[in-house]
Amino acid sequence: MRNSSVLVKRSEDSRRRRQRLLQNLIRHLKPGLQDRIRFLGAFLRRPACVGALAPSSQALARAMVRCCAPETSRTVVELGPGTGAFTGLILKQIGKNTKFFAVELDPVFASGLRARFPDLTVYNDTAERLDKYLVMNGEKKADLIVSGLPWASLPLAVQERIFEAVLKSLLPGGVFATFGYVHARWFPNAQRFRRRLEQHFSRVEVSPVVWRNFPPAFIYRCVR
Ligand SMILES: C[S@@+](CC[C@H](N)C(=O)[O-])C[C@H]1O[C@@H](n2cnc3c(N)ncnc32)[C@H](O)[C@@H]1O
Repeated sequence: MRNSSVLVKRSEDSRRRRQRLLQNLIRHLKPGLQDRIRFLGAFLRRPACVGALAPSSQALARAMVRCCAPETSRTVVELGPGTGAFTGLILKQIGKNTKFFAVELDPVFASGLRARFPDLTVYNDTAERLDKYLVMNGEKKADLIVSGLPWASLPLAVQERIFEAVLKSLLPGGVFATFGYVHARWFPNAQRFRRRLEQHFSRVEVSPVVWRNFPPAFIYRCVR
C-alpha cells in the first residue's frame, strides 16, 4: 500500500516537473504562438470544456467588441475568456469607471490572464457562480455579459445552469453577447441553446459569419 502511494507521488512529481519545463519553453515563444499552444493543450485535456482547437481570431474579437459596445456599459463580465482574445479589446474600450471582471474555469488560462492583464480581476471558477462574483464586486446585475463559452459542447446540465445564471445577472435592457461555430450550428445542444435565447431575450440578432476564424463563427447579440 505504502509502495503504491510512493509510486503515485513520484509520477505526480515528474508530471509537475514536465509541466514546468514545458511552461518555461513556451514562455520564450511569440505571445500569439504561446496562446495557441496553451489552447491546444487545454483542448486535449478537456475537449468539451474548451470546445475549440485555437483561440478566437482578431477578426472575431473585433466583431464581438463592435457588436456589444463595452464603452457604454457600467458593469461588464466576461465568461470563458481563455487566453484573452476578447479581453484585451474589451479593456481598451471600457471607460475608466466601468467594472470589469472575468470568470474562467481552467486554472492555467486563469493564471495566464492574470499575468497578461495585471489590472483585471479573474476568478478561477465556473460561470455557474456568476451571481456570487457580481455581489463580491458590489453589484447584483451587469449590463453586458460577453461569453466565450463553448455552448454546443458543454454538458446540458452545465449549459442550463450557466444560462440561468446569465438570465438572473443581466439588467433589463442589458446585452448578452456570445458566439457559435458555423459547423456546430445544427448540433442538438446548439439548437436547444438558440431556442433558449429566443425564449428569454426580447431581441436576438445574429451576425454575418466571421470566416477569418478557425473554425468560422458567428455572434449572437441578445437584449434582455
Ligand atoms: C471556446 S474557448 C473560448 C476562449 C476565448 N474566449 C476565445 O474566444 O478565444 C471556451 C473557454 O470557456 C472556458 N470554460 C468552459 N467551461 C466553463 C465554465 N463552466 N465556466 C467558466 N469558463 C468555462 C474554457 O476553459 C475556455 O477558456
